[in-house]
Amino acid sequence: MSIEREPSRSTGADENLDRKRRENRVGALHHHAFHARDMEATRHFYEDILGMPLIGTWVERMNPVTGKPDNYVHTFFEMTDGSCLAFFQFKSDETSYDTSLNKFENSNPFAHHIALTVEGKGEIERFKKRLAEHDVPVFETDHGYCYSIYFHDPNGMQVELTTRVPQTAEMMKDAGKTAHQTLALWLAEEDVATNNTKRGAGWVKA
Ligand SMILES: [Fe+2]
Repeated sequence: MSIEREPSRSTGADENLDRKRRENRVGALHHHAFHARDMEATRHFYEDILGMPLIGTWVERMNPVTGKPDNYVHTFFEMTDGSCLAFFQFKSDETSYDTSLNKFENSNPFAHHIALTVEGKGEIERFKKRLAEHDVPVFETDHGYCYSIYFHDPNGMQVELTTRVPQTAEMMKDAGKTAHQTLALWLAEEDVATNNTKRGAGWVKA
């Protein structure tokens, strides 16, 4: 069975980008949710180490997915724009971390990660030092259009902290003009050369 989808349109400089942005009605991140294996370890990691305040804890006694009585807690850790990282921890065996589909050791950053914004390379260095003080292994990479560090939270979820760099605005302006064209080219051809000429040394252990 094939999935029908609209082909990516190549429109050269993509003069439609401004219109598409004006017409978009999907706003900023509200929250990203993940299954917690230990909510206190999760609280310590996000609130005490990363400095994201716990702004809400909701105890729930009915599972809206199964429609059955359950016992779980739902927490929100706030970012500077008001959006949150959210976590669930269940007490019942049926919905616990160990029996959840979310159980995995996420060692491959391409599989799943959540990227959060920090302001400048100084903040990247500050978080690297803070995470090292708490024995959290960190990897870093220069993406060209941004600069990032990656690490795992106590639940196995990979977190990225990323900052804009001096060339970010210029690179993203150009990327917006060529995004469809570049995607169409990559889909159609085997050996398309990189168009990210500003990328640095890549994935290195911090
Ligand atoms: Fe990322």
